[in-house]
Amino acid sequence: MPVITNSELMARAVATGSAVAAFNVITIEHAEGIVEGAERAGLPVILQLSENAIAYHGQARAIAAATVELARASSVDVALHLDHITDVALMRLAPELGYSSVMYDGSHHDFETNRELTRQAVVWGRAAGIWVEAELGEVGGKDGAHAPGVRTDPDQAVRFVADTDVDALAVAVGSSHAMVDKSASLDLGLIQRLHAAVPVPLVLHGSSGVPDALIAEAARHGVVKINIGTALNIAYTAATRAWLAEHPTDVDPRKYGAKARESVASVVAHYLRLAAGIP
Ligand code: G3H
Ligand code: ZN
Repeated sequence: MPVITNSELMARAVATGSAVAAFNVITIEHAEGIVEGAERAGLPVILQLSENAIAYHGQARAIAAATVELARASSVDVALHLDHITDVALMRLAPELGYSSVMYDGSHHDFETNRELTRQAVVWGRAAGIWVEAELGEVGGKDGAHAPGVRTDPDQAVRFVADTDVDALAVAVGSSHAMVDKSASLDLGLIQRLHAAVPVPLVLHGSSGVPDALIAEAARHGVVKINIGTALNIAYTAATRAWLAEHPTDVDPRKYGAKARESVASVVAHYLRLAAGIP
């Protein structure tokens, strides 16, 4: 199946009033499990590669090439996205890597600087044919802190989108990155106000910490892209630990890697159905 652009995938989701889940790739087993889960669910998916994951590998090309090949071989539509990019040189590598979209992350800057850097990213994105997501109102937890108190102001969001012409907006509405339990409480009223005010798709980050029912509600109220990373790592690591505990003398990574990949696939299928509103 040809690789779909994120722009087309988002446009389809907006047209049908549904959402698409985007999953963070760290290892090739993550990517294989994500594609397997999407095929099982029969739903399109977004594979995303963060600046952090690229730093872990020491370079972007090898892991990106693996995701491109997996997307090409998939029986469902797969879009490829660079996530939480602060390094402009890395962002500009997207077309060469075969990626159709980026999240330029200026959320750690003050409003004016974020707006100006995002505007520049969008100017580049338009020329390069790349869909650009940005963040306004820092989603907590990037440094491991549980900081769910931050909120995106709807009036600021309207100005930010108008001034930058960004394609999608990640908003702070109660979720927090890297949570290992589903205890975050989303501000659904704020999501509805942002959706009514802002003319582009909303993106939910830190979705691993959000209870399933709230993810489904968010998808019904204007959140079109739902980012999930930690939930995959929880499943992946638990499956690995369980295998190693049961087979303490085994040394073959293919044995526990297969279990980890399988656990990723089932988590992915679950979240894709949830985002698509399928019970
Ligand atoms: O951009 C990636 C996501 O926001 C993932 O967040 O690891 O808390 O699910 P999470
Ligand atoms: Zn995020």
